[in-house]
Amino acid sequence: MKRMPHKIPALKTTRKTVAAVLGGIVAALVLIAIAVLPRLGQIAPSEPTIGGPFTLVDQTGKTVTDADYRGKLMLIYFGYTFCPDVCPTSLGVLSKALDMLTPEELAQVVPIFITVDPARDTVDQMAQYVAAFHPALQGLTGSPEQVQTAIKAYRVYAKRSDGEADTPNYTMDHSSILYLMGKDGKFLAHFGHTATAADIAGGVKKHL
Ligand code: NI
Repeated sequence: MKRMPHKIPALKTTRKTVAAVLGGIVAALVLIAIAVLPRLGQIAPSEPTIGGPFTLVDQTGKTVTDADYRGKLMLIYFGYTFCPDVCPTSLGVLSKALDMLTPEELAQVVPIFITVDPARDTVDQMAQYVAAFHPALQGLTGSPEQVQTAIKAYRVYAKRSDGEADTPNYTMDHSSILYLMGKDGKFLAHFGHTATAADIAGGVKKHL
């Protein structure tokens, strides 16, 4: 009588064990996926959290909040009137984009310039500045706290340039992003400093 070689039953056992372990791993992964996948949707919402409530003062001296602009698309840009180049360039491009809209389209849009330098950007200073760009442009300033709230909500970077703390003619380092917010106040799109007037006008028309 021929004895069964040791190896074959041993190998069978190993295969069974491997199959059982693999089966267990697959089952565990399926369970983890079922548990984790719905939560991933909550952790990484498709809508970026940019924007939020603010209370500021417009160029006529009137206190305004973000809620006052509901029902219109907001084009929001943060900067300061003493800015030597970036802000004038960006607001020039924005103004050109506004001129590419029909009067009906423009009536549904409010372009807003919010200062990051409330110490120098008084209501009168803002009034003169925005008037130089576009009649529709709103210029918002406020107390340092009010401005900080808006800066935080829009995740804007703004800081006095290093080594200029004591000079009255300081410059500000600040991010240069134009935000397009929906008629419900929620974030729709943003435009970087390389965006053209046509890019901005196109983005607005797409969301009207
Ligand atoms: Ni600037």
